[in-house]
Amino acid sequence: MLSLANEEPFQAYDELRKRGPLVWDPGMNCWLAVSYDACKIIETDEDTFHILYADIDEKVREINGGSTGITVLTGEKHAAMRRVFLKMLSPHSIEKYRTAHVLPVINDAIDRFQKRGSAELVEEYAQAIPERVMASLFGLPWRDDALVKQIALWHKDIVAWVGMAHGPGELMIKAQLASDRLNELFLPLVIERKENRGDDFISSLWTQGEKDYPGFGVTEVLHNTREAAVGAGETTANAIANAVYLYLTNSEVHQAITADQEGPLNSFVEETLRLLGSLQWRFRVAGRDATVLGVDVKKGDLICNLHAAANRDPSHYGCPHAIDLARKAPTDHLALNVGPRLCVGMHLARMLIREGMKTLIERLPELRLDPSKEKPRFRNFSHRSYGPLNVLF
Ligand code: HEM
Repeated sequence: MLSLANEEPFQAYDELRKRGPLVWDPGMNCWLAVSYDACKIIETDEDTFHILYADIDEKVREINGGSTGITVLTGEKHAAMRRVFLKMLSPHSIEKYRTAHVLPVINDAIDRFQKRGSAELVEEYAQAIPERVMASLFGLPWRDDALVKQIALWHKDIVAWVGMAHGPGELMIKAQLASDRLNELFLPLVIERKENRGDDFISSLWTQGEKDYPGFGVTEVLHNTREAAVGAGETTANAIANAVYLYLTNSEVHQAITADQEGPLNSFVEETLRLLGSLQWRFRVAGRDATVLGVDVKKGDLICNLHAAANRDPSHYGCPHAIDLARKAPTDHLALNVGPRLCVGMHLARMLIREGMKTLIERLPELRLDPSKEKPRFRNFSHRSYGPLNVLF
């Protein structure tokens, strides 16, 4: 699988799936779960298939954001923290963010390049939106490009270490430094909002956490602000880039969502997530011997749940490689996970992708790829999107 970096992986995933729902990959030294049902069984059963953070070093938890952060919690504490997030990020709760935080950022991004008649939309649009929206939600100066870029770079340093081997060395020093800087940035905001609540994300976290999470205090708010900041960035940026790519390269879709931006646009957001994802996979480790769809997995085995393959499994989706804006159950894909770790930022993610597309279509109706520039490719490996997206309008 390692050889698929920067390549379109979907044909290879189809070949792998012919060998069974789980296939052993000696290069990655883990099982690849390539069928929809296998991924769903594994991710729904956290008692058997543990998150990697369950038994991990304290240093990794600290650098990841802190030991009370939602992604490293398990059991009752995890369930309680999920209640906090799901309430404060419900469709109803985030509605107030649309006009106060989301649309100003999106329109500002277009204002910056509209007069030029050309742009590179991965960097100037897809990446700009979630980073600036989250800064705005935290009450940081979101027009401060240097600060917003710096936050993204700190997150990259952390993911580069936590997401990989996380041993000692230069990467760990960079990740520790990044984590310290992020704590220095967020801690004063967390302390200030304890007394002065507003409409922002950190204030909502305080208010909801105090209701639903026993012993909720500065530590919990800090760690979970860090979780939201890192969870929202690259994932949503990739999804926006993928949506723009599919819009620019599929004339039928282009027509359908230009003509009617209500139902078809919502379906398009789901089909973008299903077809291209943005996080291609998530790891789990078997906490005991288990059998998944006839395949024996031993205690301690690592499993890579390949959502990008599961989301094109022909036994679950008819015409799995095609965009179908009339699919039954359009939201049952695994791009945002399933079960006890279903993404708690999913409604905000959908709002950003949807509003990002809607505004682009309305404000730049002549948008098209620039044929004189490099063609977009499906770049990177685990966090992927099409790019570059050089456009004219
Ligand atoms: C298209 C954009 C997004 C994608 C594809 C995505 C994907 C995912 C996935 C696959 C997981 C499960 C991780 C695992 O258990 O291994 C997850 C969890 C999570 N996501 Fe997202 N996410 C997106 C946007 C967001 C946003 C906007 C936020 C924050 C506001 C966010 C915050 C989180 C958090 C805090 C978790 C941990 C949930 C838990 O452990 O219970 N995500 N996301």
